[in-house]
Formats: sequence, C-alpha cells, structure tokens
Amino acid sequence: MKQYNVAVVGASGAVGEEILRVLEEVDFPLAKLVPLASARSAGTTVTFRGKEVVIQELTDTIFEEEQIQIALFSAGGSVSAQYAPIAASAGAVVIDNTSHFRMHADVPLVVPEVNPKDIALWKNTGIIANPNCSTIQMVQTLKPLDDAYDLLRVDVSTYQATSGAGMSAMEELVRQMQDFFAFKLEQSEHKKFPHQIALNLIPQIDSFTDNGYTKEEMKMVNETVKIMHKNIEVSATCVRVPILRGHSESLTLTFDGAVDADEARALLENAPNIVVMDKPNEGIYPMPKIATDQNETYVGRIRRDVYRDNVLHVWVVADNLRVGAATNAVRIALKWIEMEQA
Ligand code: A2P
Repeated sequence: MKQYNVAVVGASGAVGEEILRVLEEVDFPLAKLVPLASARSAGTTVTFRGKEVVIQELTDTIFEEEQIQIALFSAGGSVSAQYAPIAASAGAVVIDNTSHFRMHADVPLVVPEVNPKDIALWKNTGIIANPNCSTIQMVQTLKPLDDAYDLLRVDVSTYQATSGAGMSAMEELVRQMQDFFAFKLEQSEHKKFPHQIALNLIPQIDSFTDNGYTKEEMKMVNETVKIMHKNIEVSATCVRVPILRGHSESLTLTFDGAVDADEARALLENAPNIVVMDKPNEGIYPMPKIATDQNETYVGRIRRDVYRDNVLHVWVVADNLRVGAATNAVRIALKWIEMEQA
C-alpha cells in the first residue's frame, strides 16, 4: 500500500495530540510524520509509535522541504489562513480543523459518514474543511433519520466541554477547581472564557453576531445545510459546561411525517460509527465520561414528542477532540486516500 508523508500542524495542541493518537490507532499508511508548531514548541518532542519525534517550526518552506502529501491543520484560523494555501501549493491535500475555510463555496466541508463524495472537490483549492465539533456529531445522527423521514428542522441545545477551546481552556477549569478547594475561587482568573467556568455554565461560545446568536451557534446552522445539501432549519443554543472532554447535545427533530421511536433507534443502530445506548430504566444513556477517548458517537434518550408524532427527541454525546476533530480529520484523510487510489 502507498504510504504518505503527513504533517500535523499544531501537534502540541489539544487536537494535534489527539490526531497523533488516532493516526497510531488506525495504523495510518504513513511514510513519515512531521509534527509542526510555533517556535515556542519547536525542538520539543512527541511520542509516536513508540518513538520520540521532534516538533519542527511551521515555516513557508517546510511543506516543500518535507515533501508533505497530507497536512492536518489544528493551530487556529489565522495559521490556517496563512499556511494552508502554502501547503496546498506545495502539493499537499490540506485537512483543516479551523473554521477559516469552512464556508468558502469551493472548499468541501466533509463528514465522511454523511457527504464523502464531496471529498472529490478537494481539487478546487487543495483544501478540505473539517466541520465544527458540535456539527459533526449532530449531522452523523441526523443523516440516517433524514434519509428515512425527511428532516425539516432541528432545535439543539449543546453542553460543550472546555477542551473545545484548547489546552489552556482545560487548564483554566482545573485551576479554578483547585482555587475552589483552596477557598480562593473568587480571585481566580478567567482568560479563555468570559466568566468563571468552574461550578458554572456559560450560555456563550465565541462572540455574538447581530442576530443574537453566537458564531458557534451560526456555525451549526450554516455548516449543517452545507454538509447535508439541504435547507434544514436549525436553531442552536450553545453552552459551555465545566467538564474537560465530551460534547453533549439535546436535539429536537421535526420531520415531514410521523416517526416511530423504535424504528428510529434501529436506524441509528445500523448507522456507521454510531452507538445506541438507550435503556434509560437501567440508567443506560450516553454521557461524556463514556464517550471520552472513543471514536464513536453515542445516541440515546430516543423518544417521540408527547404532542406531535412528527417530532423526535434525541440525546447525542461524542468526544469533541476525537469525533469532533481528530477522528473526523483522519477519516477524511483515509477516504481521500481510498479515492486517490481508486
Ligand atoms: P505551540 O505549542 O507552539 O503554541 P490549543 O488549541 O490546544 O491551544 O493548541 C494550539 C496549537 O497550535 C499548538 O500546537 C500551538 O503550538 C499551535 N500554534 C499556535 N500558534 C501557532 C503559530 N503561529 N504557528 C504554528 N503553530 C501554532
């Protein structure tokens, strides 16, 4: 099998680290791994397949010098804006985890379980965008239900972990908890979040737009339509909660016709990379603790609305660093390889 030179941009970050773990786990056809970060981390090492690999500094020439064929970017929007086109013109396919290119008309936005064929559009710019973490686990769940019942509208509330805002955001939660136990939480600093996150929750992720929704909420609205190629109405309320890993979502789904909860459960059981956990009387339902470090999306609490037979309620949990970022990026890369070799 052909092997590829792979760069991980942001290899020292929360998502970058997870990409390395997933590449190891799936036994990626890798000729060479090139971990990249800023000058701050250059020279430090990451462990990959039992060996220490030195992180190099991201530069204009590194993709050319290292003959990179696949570049996985997770170092923030401005880094992608500057360096993804450079990597692409050096001949690499870029899989970008940031929001920078997601809504560009000629850049495909891909969740392999939902719209794998869009990967072929990578040739437009050399870039494939990885959707927002909250969108990925949601559309994986929506796809089999839409195929069966014709989805019209989604009302979603999210419960998002701090790791979605990066490593330093997780550290902020841990530090505030330590401060709480030292009786000095009131003086504890918050930098990554607009308020104290420990023992709190914050109904704001990213900044607000003119329509009263946050950018995070509008990502769920716009990305869902782009990925599913369908004008599904989406209304989102995104909430940051004081946990480290795993985003949870409460979905209210309105379909064109009547739905059946048992049938919907069976459809989800057969959907790729979805695990149904739905025995509420036995205390079995998805929780962030269960989803942590896993590559599957967990679905439960599947029930029909009390009033309307065309409305279904579903609870969805996935590891935001894995399913919502690293795993989806690596699945895109594997699919891209499959298509390239076909
Ligand atoms: P570094 O460790 O050198 O700062 P997180 O999302 O967890 O905060 O991680 C962000 C990742 O993006 C880190 O690997 C970080 O590297 C990397 N990064 C941030 N800014 C740059 C930059 N200007 N050039 C290259 N990598 C960057």
